[in-house]
Amino acid sequence: MKIAVFGTGYVGLVTAVGLAELGHHVVGADKVAEKIDKIAKGEVPIYEPGLNELLESNLKKGRLAFSSDLDKTILDSDVIFVCVGTPQGDDGSADMSQIEEVSRMIAENLNSYKLVVEKSTVPIKTSSWIKRTITLYKKTDMAFDIASNPEFLREGSAVSDFLNPDRIIIGVETERAKEILVKIYEKAKDRLVITNIDTAELIKHASNSFLAMKISYINLMANLCEKTDANIEQVAQGMGLDPRIGGLFLKAGLGFGGSCFPKDLKALIKIGEDLGVNMNLLKETDRVNADRVKVFLEKIKKALWILKDKKIAVLGLAFKPETDDIREAPSIKVIRELLNEGANLRLYDPQARENMKELFPEYLARIVYCDSPYQAAAGVNALLIITEWKEFLDLDLKKIKEVMANPIIIDGRNIYDAERVKKLGFEYYSVGRK
Ligand code: UGA
Repeated sequence: MKIAVFGTGYVGLVTAVGLAELGHHVVGADKVAEKIDKIAKGEVPIYEPGLNELLESNLKKGRLAFSSDLDKTILDSDVIFVCVGTPQGDDGSADMSQIEEVSRMIAENLNSYKLVVEKSTVPIKTSSWIKRTITLYKKTDMAFDIASNPEFLREGSAVSDFLNPDRIIIGVETERAKEILVKIYEKAKDRLVITNIDTAELIKHASNSFLAMKISYINLMANLCEKTDANIEQVAQGMGLDPRIGGLFLKAGLGFGGSCFPKDLKALIKIGEDLGVNMNLLKETDRVNADRVKVFLEKIKKALWILKDKKIAVLGLAFKPETDDIREAPSIKVIRELLNEGANLRLYDPQARENMKELFPEYLARIVYCDSPYQAAAGVNALLIITEWKEFLDLDLKKIKEVMANPIIIDGRNIYDAERVKKLGFEYYSVGRK
């Protein structure tokens, strides 16, 4: 079976490498030729633990290749995984133009039966549009099938999520498509869930929105804790011990960012409203999340009063640890607000500095990009924790205190033990706890 994977972003690249690791012959395709040239040489364009090694070993074994010749890749393939981007459009819905473009290309090169598998996160009913597009543009009467196989990998642990999934959702409408996908995932056949296509598409959106809702819920409880003597970590622990609730994704903080939750939540709200369903539950999830940065800024102002000309260290720029991705990262909103208020910033992140440098070119005079947390803390009036990188947990706080002008930490992720930090002489503000 010859497999093609269209798109070499986080999902596409991990899918191509992961399917090769499962033993299949895979061609990863992308229209950006320079990107393909680099990946084909074993250079991973993103930071994702474990991906480099697996890319290299599968390239060497000859199971994996990359091409920017999209027509040829389609002509040579039996199964095409579509992993191109579905960014957020102006009205909150997902922009499906890249999916449409690939569908037309597949139609024009339909030289044999092909199974087209949607892997990008897409709204329900996308498969019907892909099917209609291929039918409209195809030049032969070759048969084809559409299937949905949504991806659940998380950035930072994408490789292991792909290779050890909790479940593999397969949405199909024909026996032939089902058999092909069951064969591809033979090694994980105990984890297959087979549904129709609408169901598979909705499982993905419903899962991400549910997790987003869980995070907003615990953040709402954190707001309550801050007005009382309750402690959010103990609240989360006490709640999470109930297996019906579960302890994961109950970490209060700066809210959810990244390329998935914010976008998918808005897309599902739009889908529901277009279908005449009241989506207020998810709208509130989004609103609570949007307020997280505001709540955090209030704490900074409580500590520093006027921000103009204050020097502030910002530790953590990526939207979460173990990635260089800053899409929808809370750090961006925090940095923008602080710059608007006239603060001078010293920024540090183990992986995401280069990406952030592109965002605020007009503020270069007031931003210093630092090479270590200690350098970032030098001379500052306060230090902010925005992303919970392990490196920040292990900091020598005594050394940090020595180099700071004022020993004030505002921790947006609750990474430190409050008692310990206060004993070291810091003024310490965190989330939902004293
Ligand atoms: C998310 C899902 O977890 C994956 O299953 C899914 O495949 C992926 O989206 C996608 O749709 O492609 P990801 O965005 O990589 O994965 O990251 P998560 O680990 O889910 O974190 C999302 C955001 O929630 C981060 O900003 C994180 O800081 C925040 N979060 C997470 C919290 O604020 N609290 C928590 O308890 C957990």
